[in-house]
Amino acid sequence: MVSHHQKYHPVPLPAYNSIRPEKAQSEADNFFKRMSKRHSIRDFSNTNIDENVIRTAIKTAARAPSGANQQPWHFVAIKDAKMKHKIRDAAEAEEQKFYNGGSGDEWLAALEPIGTGPNKSHITTAPWLIVVFAQRYGLRDDGSRYKHYYVPESVGIATGILITALHNCGLSTLTHTPNPMSFLNGLCQRPKNEKPVMIMPVGYPTPNATVPQASLYKKTESDILSIF
Ligand SMILES: Cc1cc2nc3c(=O)[nH]c(=O)nc-3n(C[C@H](O)[C@H](O)[C@H](O)COP(=O)(O)O)c2cc1C
Repeated sequence: MVSHHQKYHPVPLPAYNSIRPEKAQSEADNFFKRMSKRHSIRDFSNTNIDENVIRTAIKTAARAPSGANQQPWHFVAIKDAKMKHKIRDAAEAEEQKFYNGGSGDEWLAALEPIGTGPNKSHITTAPWLIVVFAQRYGLRDDGSRYKHYYVPESVGIATGILITALHNCGLSTLTHTPNPMSFLNGLCQRPKNEKPVMIMPVGYPTPNATVPQASLYKKTESDILSIF
């Protein structure tokens, strides 16, 4: 557990990713090219992924910065077929209600170009699922609670690093957020202080995988960036 009684104690900066300034632009360009090949996919092949690759990507995600270094996340990695089926059944039951009007017209209209529906076969075809949990508050060994700060921000950053780490070794992902998701606490045996944030299927695309055309539209630099 992250200690709450530690005093401030500066130590020398450990090894860092040292790149000469004149190399920065070419590194930035290369990484941009690599990340531009990232697409959320929904058509996963059943090609296996070594468990150690998944473990390493999650360890990488857990190097993310977090509010007060509280690291308010937990990842559940699932390859077990029975468990994937249970998660798919529960997710599809929620999605059925969602697409039958539980979500409201505006939300459904926003989703229309993405073409998503209540069938969630990717949950069982992808070789791995990573369920991301956010710890709304911390629990000491004696069961007492302590406050966590900036939980959504911290978990969002860690998840972004997870997607990037998986992409970096050639794996595709989907950010899947059935609504509501509380069924995941029971199926993944996680405590009440943790809130499921997403199901992330991980794997390789099938040879004939498609993506929604709408997902290829990205805002321009002038839309997303102001420089002073
Ligand atoms: C927070 C969040 C929730 C999402 N939820 C879903 C989802 O439930 N189902 C789905 O098919 N895609 C979901 N997506 C994926 C988006 O549709 C996708 O990121 C977007 O269309 C852009 O495509 P790209 O990721 O290929 O760039 C979600 C993405 C984010 C960031």
